[in-house]
Amino acid sequence: MKKTTIGEPLLRLDSVDSTNNYAAALIAKGTATDGTVILSAYQTNGKGQGSNSWISGVGKNLLFSIILYPRLLPAEKQFFLSMSISWGIAGFVETLVRKAQIKWPNDILINDKKVAGILIENTVSGMNLNASVIGIGLNVNQEVFPEGIINATSLKLESDHEYDLNHTLQDLIGWLNTCLKSLYEEQFGAVKVNYLNRLWMLNRWAVYSDSTGRFEGRISDVTDSGELMVLRRNGKIKNYGFKEIVFINML
Ligand code: BTN
Repeated sequence: MKKTTIGEPLLRLDSVDSTNNYAAALIAKGTATDGTVILSAYQTNGKGQGSNSWISGVGKNLLFSIILYPRLLPAEKQFFLSMSISWGIAGFVETLVRKAQIKWPNDILINDKKVAGILIENTVSGMNLNASVIGIGLNVNQEVFPEGIINATSLKLESDHEYDLNHTLQDLIGWLNTCLKSLYEEQFGAVKVNYLNRLWMLNRWAVYSDSTGRFEGRISDVTDSGELMVLRRNGKIKNYGFKEIVFINML
């Protein structure tokens, strides 16, 4: 698979609705090259997964989107792109703080609190991916979060250290390039192992709920298409898509 190095060019904006929207517009215009990064100090309408929004203080955190054209990656393997990005962010966070974990499908946690979110928007052409917008919000120096945002943390809160945003971005991009190289070299096993090694609640019994009600379950794996595999006390495994299962509490 072809190689792409992300980070060149790097477009810096003061404010934008959403760096993902900005990236999608560049792709639509045909003016964006592979590996382009769009960074903004602030977003007026930051997008989270599903119908969520992503709120971040001005100039405190990293808010950026990466444009990729992973045209040799089969669409059925798109979750491997998500896993390699999660691995890259978690691996980078671990160089600064401590063990990071990945809450399925791709929230990055420190001490069970969310430090980064990822929103990947892919377009598919035939059997393969065409363009991918990888939006990343990493809480870096923010210390106070608005009411209603529960369970959020930042690198600063976890390490008592103020970070230079430019250096942090460059180091994070270095990690993402390493992890994407594994993907482009088709090291799918390595990508998955690095993801699973950090998967939050893997092999730990907990209470979950799904459309049938509450039950005790244990995450056992993820499928190649990105479904969460959960083992029940009765020995049966059920696969879940995004938002089909809710974590209730640990046991
Ligand atoms: C989530 O966890 O819900 C995903 C959050 C993704 C937020 C980032 S911030 C930069 C990029 N632009 C957006 O509008 N969203 C992503």
